[in-house]
Amino acid sequence: MILVRVRERDHVEPPDRPAPQVRRYHILSDIEPRLDTTPKRGNAAAVDEHQLAIRKRHENAVALADVDGRNLENTLVDPWREGMPYQDRQFLRELSEQLIFIGRGEPDRMRPTGEAIHGLVEYLSPLIEQRLARPGDDLLSILASGEQRGVYTREEVVANAVLLLLAGHETTINLICNGTLAFMRHPDQWALLQRDPALAVRATEECLRYDPPVKSLQRIAVQDVELGGKVIRSLDRVRWFLTSANRDPEKFAAPEKFDITRDPNLHVAFGSGIHHCLGATLARLEGQEAFKALAQRFPSLHLETEELEYQPSILFRSLKSLPVTWQ
Ligand code: HEM
Repeated sequence: MILVRVRERDHVEPPDRPAPQVRRYHILSDIEPRLDTTPKRGNAAAVDEHQLAIRKRHENAVALADVDGRNLENTLVDPWREGMPYQDRQFLRELSEQLIFIGRGEPDRMRPTGEAIHGLVEYLSPLIEQRLARPGDDLLSILASGEQRGVYTREEVVANAVLLLLAGHETTINLICNGTLAFMRHPDQWALLQRDPALAVRATEECLRYDPPVKSLQRIAVQDVELGGKVIRSLDRVRWFLTSANRDPEKFAAPEKFDITRDPNLHVAFGSGIHHCLGATLARLEGQEAFKALAQRFPSLHLETEELEYQPSILFRSLKSLPVTWQ
């Protein structure tokens, strides 16, 4: 099965979409109670005894976790929020991790990717049946309503559900993780955000520019095109690097500098053109609230080690682990 993209967005938009401030409220109501019960001192290894830490779960996800195994990262980035049974989140997280094999280099990478897609199809199909019989106000019901209206086939409902799960999950984890790392390596910028929480908006944009969650995108040329003095032939595969575009010296002054006051900041971390990220507004809100909350509640946060490893992926800029401590 091929992942298709959301098409005909108007047909799948819920009529009473919450305004950004309502979404911000939901995000805050997820973050604040957990941070309020966090111990004053801690480190990554203390996560099971204490109530919150930044750590990597399952070797590749940063998590703001609390003792009962719930974690902020899932709540924050999970587009299913109200729609998926809570007890299935761990299972979904594992499938999501398998899905990111799609951007790895191993010759047999499509095997785990395919298994994950099949697992999701099996998991989602009965849930879609339920939504068709008894629609709710969750995302899956909205997608399923597209099938009822003849906008989507069943395969497209499932494919879009899988796409949303992957697109909204790994990316936001990487934003929080890579952004936190940038702050830890630039204590002056961390101090600046603490002094002025209103900078969270620009700071999130700078995190997206400086170390973007998605490294590169792929296209197939539909016609011959000349670019930078070279001809790309029709049907050639092209991979363009957002990481590189985001440090373009012709677009950004001092591009290597992590500067949370940067303005304007016309990065391309969310892509561009007709496939520009559907979840950009949500992801921005999540980043802003997460960085603001961390700066306010964990001013002493610092990196435990400089020995960091990344997932071997050409697609995602994904740390395997981000060990931190705080006083
Ligand atoms: C920091 C977080 C995120 C980043 C950096 C990011 C990045 C991107 C990028 C670069 C693309 C363009 C893909 C392409 O052109 O091939 C994209 C597309 C997309 N993103 Fe995101 N994304 C993020 C969060 C989210 C979230 C939270 C959602 C959903 C809840 C989401 C849903 C989508 C979807 C559905 C598309 C495909 C849009 C289309 O093809 O029309 N993303 N994203």
